[in-house]
Amino acid sequence: MEIIHISAECYPVAKAGGLGDVVGALPKYQCKAGHIAKVVMPMYRTKFLYENEWTVDFKGNANLGSWFFDFTIIKESTNKLGFDLFLVDINGLLDRQRIYGYDDDSERFTAFQIAVASWMSSWEHNPDVVHCHDHHTGLLPFMMQYCYDFKKLSSVPTVFTIHNAQYQGWMGWDKSRYIPRWDLWKRGMLDWADSINPLASAIKCATRVTTVSWSYMEELRFHSNGLEKLFEYERGKCIGILNGIDNEVWNPETDKYLTDHYSVKKVTGGKQKNKESLCQQFSLDPEKPLFVFIGRLVGEKAAEILPDAIKTSLYYTQGAACFLVLGSGDPEVEWRFTEMIEPYKGSFNAVIGYDETLSHRMYAGADFLLMPSRVEPCGLNQMYAMRYGTVPVVRSTGGLQDTVVDMGDPEGFGIRFNHASIHDVEYSIGRGIAVYQDTAHMEKMRKWMMQIDHSWESTVDQYTQVYESIQ
Ligand code: ADP
Ligand code: GLC
Repeated sequence: MEIIHISAECYPVAKAGGLGDVVGALPKYQCKAGHIAKVVMPMYRTKFLYENEWTVDFKGNANLGSWFFDFTIIKESTNKLGFDLFLVDINGLLDRQRIYGYDDDSERFTAFQIAVASWMSSWEHNPDVVHCHDHHTGLLPFMMQYCYDFKKLSSVPTVFTIHNAQYQGWMGWDKSRYIPRWDLWKRGMLDWADSINPLASAIKCATRVTTVSWSYMEELRFHSNGLEKLFEYERGKCIGILNGIDNEVWNPETDKYLTDHYSVKKVTGGKQKNKESLCQQFSLDPEKPLFVFIGRLVGEKAAEILPDAIKTSLYYTQGAACFLVLGSGDPEVEWRFTEMIEPYKGSFNAVIGYDETLSHRMYAGADFLLMPSRVEPCGLNQMYAMRYGTVPVVRSTGGLQDTVVDMGDPEGFGIRFNHASIHDVEYSIGRGIAVYQDTAHMEKMRKWMMQIDHSWESTVDQYTQVYESIQ
């Protein structure tokens, strides 16, 4: 099958979070399984662009309302990612360093989708499936069906994957002029609560809708930032498919970011070496259990409860554990972590920013990974932690609930709690500190979780079944 993935992120080209990881891996494993999977994304000005070779594949032009723009599609020449990668260049809109966070994001991603639809309409053949990811590509299923200029694509099946339903890409109806001539009777397919809602539109227009864990699929019918009724109504076309992880990138035996590699057999010693170098760099005590947090410092991740939870825990245990935080996001939370570095020296440290290398070293060197997420559609961090023998400490929600078994249950290896509260986090840290003393138990849990198979190889088939069901 020929599968065209359309996304705002793809690792290692441009990544802000898990969406990038998924779109950088799923197509690779689809190609390995015999499909032709391609990725189309905006051409941001990232390091990857300047360090690789490209050929021009297509030049075209289109309108965004009354603004006439040229676009160019370039293709990575060597197929080094394991799939064909296409970047869409639109001067003035996409030629930026960051992926998101600009005032004109609606214009940027609408123009991107128009360029993609124009380009695909020019092909002699139609692909078997167009697979869109998150709201930045949510207008495409509508455009492919109801824009007169893209009529050729109207019979192409579309799959829309929701990685995060919190963000929906809302735009005022004044922006409807951006969408190329469309069947005005279909206004309802764009609308939700009196605005154009790309995420809602995709749920209505895509042939199939998937999300990245089973539990999150269920939760969306009760909590989805205003779309609950829509999920209830469209449940027949929705399916949860748990994400996989790229075992070639995330492998403690070969990880290019680690200096001390280790296997399941050598996990205890291997992790200790990684922990020592990490603790040395961040002035922490390698003899104490090390808890880390890696992620976006936002409300969904409940990052703002961590400073107090960590302080409380250090107070009640008289400093029995160490903590290291890596993340960026809400300036207030960044400031609260930064402010803790000096007074808690020796027990706590934080790096505010994004650092791929450090994140790998932390998965390898930590004993526990904290994820108190309020919302977690899948979560990849806990699966990376498991692969590196690090005990996940998670709130029971979404994909965390689907992947982590509490150590009190048969075959358990993690720590689960119910509330994104200071008390629950502090209590769970206490459970971690207690089990850390039992080295045999720790080793057993590490070995067990490292052998759990979350590979894409075992997940790809589920997407194939979805594609086949809509041919
Ligand atoms: P989300 O996509 O909601 O942020 P996921 O758990 O799916 O959460 O994926 C997060 C991904 O981003 C992981 O690969 C994680 O290691 C990475 N990540 C998040 N924050 C940082 C950071 N500050 N530095 C390096 N990597 C990060
Ligand atoms: C989103 C979700 C995260 C998920 C990722 C990849 O960013 O917040 O839970 O793992 O997408 O699907």
